[in-house]
Amino acid sequence: MELPFAESYKIKMVEPIRKSTREERERWIKKANYNLFNLRSNQVFIDLLTDSGTGAMSDRQWASMMLGDESYAGASSYYNLKQAIKNITGFDYFLPTHQGRAAENVLFSALVSEGNVVPGNTHFDTTKGHIEFRKASAIDCTIEEAFDTTVDHPFKGNIDLNKLESVYLKYTNEQIPMVIVTVTCNSSGGQPVSMENLKDVYDLSKKYGIRVIFDSARFAENAYFIKTREQGYAHHTIKDIVAEMFSYADGMTMSSKKDAIVNMGGFIALKEEEVFKQAAQYNIIYEGFITYGGMSGRDMNALAQGLDEGTEFDYLESRIKQVAYLGQKLKEYGVPVQEPFGGHAIFVDAKRFLPHIPVEQYVAQTLAIELYKEAGVRGVEIGTLLADRDPATRENRYPKLELLRLAIPRRTYTNNHMDVVAAALKNVYDRRNDIKTGYKIINEAPILRHFTVELEPYVKESMGV
Ligand code: F0G
Repeated sequence: MELPFAESYKIKMVEPIRKSTREERERWIKKANYNLFNLRSNQVFIDLLTDSGTGAMSDRQWASMMLGDESYAGASSYYNLKQAIKNITGFDYFLPTHQGRAAENVLFSALVSEGNVVPGNTHFDTTKGHIEFRKASAIDCTIEEAFDTTVDHPFKGNIDLNKLESVYLKYTNEQIPMVIVTVTCNSSGGQPVSMENLKDVYDLSKKYGIRVIFDSARFAENAYFIKTREQGYAHHTIKDIVAEMFSYADGMTMSSKKDAIVNMGGFIALKEEEVFKQAAQYNIIYEGFITYGGMSGRDMNALAQGLDEGTEFDYLESRIKQVAYLGQKLKEYGVPVQEPFGGHAIFVDAKRFLPHIPVEQYVAQTLAIELYKEAGVRGVEIGTLLADRDPATRENRYPKLELLRLAIPRRTYTNNHMDVVAAALKNVYDRRNDIKTGYKIINEAPILRHFTVELEPYVKESMGV
């Protein structure tokens, strides 16, 4: 008999989590103004809000923390991390930052100015936020297949080269400080970018003299998909694939809270010394001196170790197979999910799940609230709330997809937890026609509103409100 699949690690430390009653959850979510970010963690049973900083560190990572060097300047932990980044990415220049959006802030302070355009595959919300905050625009050049959850395409994170070239033709070089390739592409469903596409984007960009920056939060998961889906890579190691991927970039921003499996941290890595020097000035103002930049020595050590572990095939296989396990279960139950399954999360297609709820009533948020009420499972809306308003017109931006993201923390939950999540969503799916209306906004911030937005159930005007 063929042996079944099992994780490449065992558990050494556990943390209790608590179930609650439906009555408690209805009270808590109302008090949280129907915003799942406002819930306390002990009001959540299975927390799939994010895979960012929520993973379990290994014994080796914890051990490396004891060797952290907390010197302000020139700490050994800094050099340890610098070497690890060089080994994995090939980049010579690096700046530590406290997390991914801080890396964006520092790098964009050096490179992006008013009136610029920054093309890419669907930019993550903080990336877009940092671009728009500087009165520049992010232009989405993702392939069209990414926006149909029923189309099976192995690399839905790919950039459409025609769309990209039309941006390069329309604007001058001075207006385009970089193209950002997000690997894997979080906003379009944790979807990977093929090696071929990375190379083509690089070649096209070099032809036009444009810098290529990778938003690398989940670069190792992207490498796993290249190994398992792209012709010619089956026998390459993940580390070799990662090295080739980064050979098609001039630099990267990194949220280490994802594929480097640490609870906090980020960095910028670069080929060009000149950009490094400019960014270093901003790093010192915003983050800290260039040899710690917002990170303690022990955290830099854990990150160096995490970069090595996170680029091992056996670990990645355990991780991505768990995500697919949840996806497969949901598919069997008839729940509409984005396919093929992404690297870090399963994305439920809320428009197909609740077709009778209008997008103006925040359909993906409505589904997230229902799932929480059902079983204390917390996911996150990737839809109109996240998309914010257009900075010029202040109108709601309605994205093509309304998704409920179920992000799986790394090395944290078992497949039994995945079974609970799948059963809970099935129950919501079975009673979907009883969910008659969505929500309306009663308070929102001008930018990145989804973190703090306040909602109340939508009530039809004919019903007296
Ligand atoms: N880029 C991508 C692709 C991301 O997914 C994130 C964060 C960031 C940049 C910003 O990094 O959080 O360290 O400042 N994504 C988290 C998520 C928050 O839940 O997907 P950060």
